[in-house]
Amino acid sequence: MRPVFAYYGFTPVSLDDFACGVPELDDFLRRDAARFVEQGLSAVKLLIDEDCKKAIGFYAISPATVQIKWLSLAQQNHFHVSFPIPAWLIGRLAVDRACQRRHFGEVLLCDAVLNIQKRAHQGAGALIIVDAKDATVKHFYEKYGFTALSTQRNLKLARPVAEVEN
Ligand SMILES: CC(C)(COP(=O)(O)OP(=O)(O)OC[C@H]1O[C@@H](n2cnc3c(N)ncnc32)[C@H](O)[C@@H]1OP(=O)(O)O)[C@@H](O)C(=O)NCCC(=O)NCCS
Repeated sequence: MRPVFAYYGFTPVSLDDFACGVPELDDFLRRDAARFVEQGLSAVKLLIDEDCKKAIGFYAISPATVQIKWLSLAQQNHFHVSFPIPAWLIGRLAVDRACQRRHFGEVLLCDAVLNIQKRAHQGAGALIIVDAKDATVKHFYEKYGFTALSTQRNLKLARPVAEVEN
């Protein structure tokens, strides 16, 4: 296996068999990703196995905002502004079932964070946010520095853009 990154549409790749266990994410990649990229709704990056030209996994990111009321008091005091906080959303992230638990999710998440850090350097953005679909996926994101935005929104997680780790 030779894993390489490529933006959606830039390298021939077979997506028909991609199955991560969450049908909405499979459908997004197979059916909607082309339109999302074309319309500027998301940037979609694939991790491809160069040997068989199949997708190992992917993520989609887009600019976002975080409402002040979603933040803890400490975070509100930290930002000390009254407008929504500029942020980046990792809206989708998935690894094909056959490749799960082999650290490709970690590779994809780290690339998404680095990608956002580069974009934020010129285009602003203070937080990276993700919507974990359940408590299990929440644990995955928590391993990489994401924490719940508030007790009311405990599956909406965030971490500062600037914090470089992993
Ligand atoms: C969630 C997902 C992206 C993780 O990818 P992965 O390649 O299987 O995970 P990795 O092998 O990179 O795991 C990295 C670490 O996170 C942990 N981890 C991975 N999935 C986990 C889970 N579901 N629950 C708890 N921990 C998890 C691993 O144990 C590993 O920790 P370790 O180094 O201590 O062993 C993948 O399981 C997936 O695509 N799931 C279906 C789609 C999905 O739910 N996407 C998230 C959208 S909210």
